Amino acid sequence: MSKPAILVARAIFPQVIEKLQQHFEVEHNQADASWSREELIARLQGKVGVFTTGSERIDAALLAACPQLKICANMAVGFNNFDLAAMTAAGVLGTNAPDVLTETTADFGFALLMATARRMTESEHFLRAGQWTKWSYDLFAGAEVHGSTLAILGMGRIGQGIARRGAHGFGMKVLYHNRSRLAPQLEAECKARYVGKDELLREADHLVLVLPYTAESHHAIGAAEIAQMKPTATLVNIARGGIVDDAALAQALRERRIAAAGLDVFEGEPKVHPDLLTVPNVVLTPHIASATIPTRMAMANLAADNLLGFLLQRKPLTPLNPEVLA
Ligand code: DGY
Repeated sequence: MSKPAILVARAIFPQVIEKLQQHFEVEHNQADASWSREELIARLQGKVGVFTTGSERIDAALLAACPQLKICANMAVGFNNFDLAAMTAAGVLGTNAPDVLTETTADFGFALLMATARRMTESEHFLRAGQWTKWSYDLFAGAEVHGSTLAILGMGRIGQGIARRGAHGFGMKVLYHNRSRLAPQLEAECKARYVGKDELLREADHLVLVLPYTAESHHAIGAAEIAQMKPTATLVNIARGGIVDDAALAQALRERRIAAAGLDVFEGEPKVHPDLLTVPNVVLTPHIASATIPTRMAMANLAADNLLGFLLQRKPLTPLNPEVLA
């Protein structure tokens, strides 16, 4: 009997491809070429499953053009590249890759907070440019991290990981805002207090964004929100591009309306708003918050196991729209 055919839309670990090949006919994007949407649709013909990485948009038009498709397995916890309602309507399962990246991503969020507050990349550029000629009392003096107020917008698993690091490791006062309030026991573990969004913005010494990207969270941080923040505050975005209005942020940074920002995600990435490239008080990284080899391997394995679990036994591990299994 012939094996079911699947597509792996981006280059991933060869071991994971080999695992999939034991059960499926696998076409994979070995060269990591940038496939156009038309090419993706063409390659999806006859495929029952696709391994995606968060960059491939799965919507009603693609599903209509690929009627054999039954599952899209994202190697990412975020799934804003999926139109889940359209997938459910078409009877196509979506899966994501939660949990396995939580601690690694929280580590990075905290690292970016520290690099931003303590002006690490700005001072390194100064040194590399040969501009360091003497010690000065205020040379690259940054913002205090320990004992300051950590404000978290979006308190899922990664937000909680950042809260724990701040509260237990750095003695920070932790405030959070989220669609729903955490259970009292979780609030106590994170030493975090629930506040409204306005209070969060006003009180933040360091504001970290970890909320999902949806129509409601588009430009959740723009000029009006930045105007509510302290001029000494820093902003870190490890969630998704589009949550921050990057043009408004670049202008606020240039005018020192907040002290600094650390950004791992960008509106329209991998393009970066040109104004962000010219302001000095921003740390920029290319969407790498989950990028350690063990974590990326665990994410790839989870996406592969979702394909295997669903296509071989109808038992995916982390379904997003389990109603299609009924
Ligand atoms: C995620 O898992 O959503 C990350 O942003 C991808 O690296």
